[in-house]
Amino acid sequence: MQSLADQLTQLTPEELIQLTSGADFWHSKALPDRHIPNFRMSDGPNGLRYQAGSGDALGINESVISTCFPTASAVACTWDPELISEMGRAIGHEARSLDVDMVLGPGINIKRNPLCGRNFEYFSEDPFLAGMIGAAWIKGLQSTGAAACLKHFAGNNQENDRLLSDSLIDETALHELYLEAFRIAVQTAHPEGIMCSYNKVNGTYASDNSYLLTEVLRHQWDFKGTVVTDWGALNDKVASLNAGGDLEMPSSANMFDPEALKALNAGKLKAAALRRAAGNVIQTAEKKRPAFTGEREALLAEDGRLAQKIEENAAVLLKNDDQILPIRPDQKLLVIGQMAAATRYQGAGSSHINPPEKSTILDGFKKAKMPYDYQPGYAFSRENDDQLAADAVAAAKDAQTVLVVVGLPESAESEGFDRPNMKLPANQNQLIDRLAAVTPNLIVLLVAGAPVELPWRSQVKGLINLYLGGQFVGDAAVNLLTGKANPSGKLAESYPISYQDVASADLYDRNPQSAAYAESVYVGYRYYDKANQPVAFPFGFGLSYTTFQLSDLSLDQSQIQADQALNATVTVTNTGDRDGAEVVEVFVGNSADSPLKPLKELKGFQKVFLKAGQTTSVTITLPAHAFSDWNDQQQAWQLPAAHKTVLVKIGSDQSQLTAPVDVRGQSLPKKELPDWYVNPVGKPTLADFTTMSGLTVQPAITAQPGQYTRLNTPRELGTHSALIRKITSILKNSMTKGIADPESSEAKFMETIVMDTPLIRLAQQSGGKLSLTLVNKLVAIANRHYFKGIFGR
Ligand code: BGC
Repeated sequence: MQSLADQLTQLTPEELIQLTSGADFWHSKALPDRHIPNFRMSDGPNGLRYQAGSGDALGINESVISTCFPTASAVACTWDPELISEMGRAIGHEARSLDVDMVLGPGINIKRNPLCGRNFEYFSEDPFLAGMIGAAWIKGLQSTGAAACLKHFAGNNQENDRLLSDSLIDETALHELYLEAFRIAVQTAHPEGIMCSYNKVNGTYASDNSYLLTEVLRHQWDFKGTVVTDWGALNDKVASLNAGGDLEMPSSANMFDPEALKALNAGKLKAAALRRAAGNVIQTAEKKRPAFTGEREALLAEDGRLAQKIEENAAVLLKNDDQILPIRPDQKLLVIGQMAAATRYQGAGSSHINPPEKSTILDGFKKAKMPYDYQPGYAFSRENDDQLAADAVAAAKDAQTVLVVVGLPESAESEGFDRPNMKLPANQNQLIDRLAAVTPNLIVLLVAGAPVELPWRSQVKGLINLYLGGQFVGDAAVNLLTGKANPSGKLAESYPISYQDVASADLYDRNPQSAAYAESVYVGYRYYDKANQPVAFPFGFGLSYTTFQLSDLSLDQSQIQADQALNATVTVTNTGDRDGAEVVEVFVGNSADSPLKPLKELKGFQKVFLKAGQTTSVTITLPAHAFSDWNDQQQAWQLPAAHKTVLVKIGSDQSQLTAPVDVRGQSLPKKELPDWYVNPVGKPTLADFTTMSGLTVQPAITAQPGQYTRLNTPRELGTHSALIRKITSILKNSMTKGIADPESSEAKFMETIVMDTPLIRLAQQSGGKLSLTLVNKLVAIANRHYFKGIFGR
């Protein structure tokens, strides 16, 4: 067999360029004359979205059946890398059963703000947890021979304006928070692919960002795989190849190939960069991947059971006053809430799965042969609410125990757009208030992929957060309610009391072009802890039907130097009368006056399963990296000279054990920073952010006729032109035509894809239907250059 270097030498420049452009919606390009195969990609990450055929003409929701696992926000609450590795393996087998080579997942972006529409698809607000869970998923998936494509690299933490916005992130937050999860996943699990995101990072599109794609990814982290653009994220083909991008997806019908060839001949496209990109694509395509030899039906049956097991290990018991839970299997419940009959189990967008089977919460009761009465209580569509609520309240008066199922409706959580607020629908909150007035025995099941405000939380005795629990959420919920499964999930993100408590609340989604991450590293618990801001439920929290006790923290050394590690050992005892699992969470603490340093940061964890009464000793190793800071001048992590602390707690008990550590490294000279970054109380200001980071927020520019370019969106172009509005509405209708419900999240997502994508990117994804000539004409018309618009090219 020829070496890759020999293969590359024999290819013409045209062929090399062709290899860096996708062949259709899901395949890379094959060169049969050169015996170079293609590779096939399909979406993840909570299952396989395999679209038969070559295009996406079927719409986002049409795909071959596959197992729908709980979505990432639930998955992370397991704090169980081994279990999530099984999930990755299962998805890998399903992928191989359909000859898929690369699965587009996992998504590992940090949850900067609870309103991001795609938070259900991401793991955590914490990079260590997100990185470790992501790495486990990748290892499991790649053990089957399928390739993982880690996404969305990087700084893609909002959905509104995701194709336009520039994420302005200071160097410390960039490396210690936003890149850290990617670093962990890349260095420990070696994904074969990584997907660059749509947005800009500090002024440069991720697809053209040589700092991210070459300096950080390839040089600092030693990534050896293929960089794939998000679908339509390519900004400039030549800049992207030079910067470290390899494969443009989906096919743009070779729209940019001539320009790349010209640039190559002019020396503007580096020949070595082109060879690297083509070489990486060939390497991924030629990798031998074992064929799946089992029965697909049996695989799906087995994976369905795994999906349920993951949900049973993920759901978080947030309240259990008077031990209202678990309920006895013969205890008749009054179940209230439309969500019990139409239980959401996944979010919307490119991760949407068609499972072979599913169970709602009511199905779960039926299957378990448990007695229950049911009242809808509210309707998602809001019709007849008062009567529904009144009937439910009347029934609750006579019921012994009432289970209310509430959550976000389907249209609230999707790729492509953010939530407008952090509230549950008002009719659901009102219903709980009214029920609480007639019965003290309320249990709530919460179904939502991201935090919501829970204004009634003190009025209910029991609360289980199911998140979006996958295809068998109903069976899992019933097992959790009855104690057949003992809850062991711990929150992978904080639940703020109200949206205004979020550090980025005043700045998030305020400027479509410039997204200042002014809160820097103070995201999630890193902010609430140091700002002393109470939360509804903290990061890492989750109860069990048994009780645990943590004791005897000891460190094997009280100091640490570069390249060393230290071991923290604790004892955990199951002090209750049921078997159960608990998570030991290990943080490294910083002194309160350290600038740009949270009070504590997660650096280790372990889930332990203990029989009733059992005791175990847990040792967690903390490498020097856990005590290190990012040194931007050196472009490396560096151990400081500092007094730090190791803090250990368990999920069900917020008290912590601590031990001091003398960190013996070298500190950088201290920078003068605005006080907010030492003492982050209240909200950061843009002026302070600029002083701290050197990054300046640009005011949003609304282009006017005469100023439009191919980088403007159809929505922008249409503001002053009825003709453009007409043309784009034809385009929009053609894309949303098979969608039955125009109010559905799928319809809304498709609409944002058409209306909020820069024209040039839309053309690139249209597989040749929207040509460059048509794009130029639209821009000319929007600029009121009608002659050019009609006769130009
Ligand atoms: C999403 C990616 C996804 C791709 C292909 C994009 O809209 O951002 O996560 O993998 O589409 O469906």
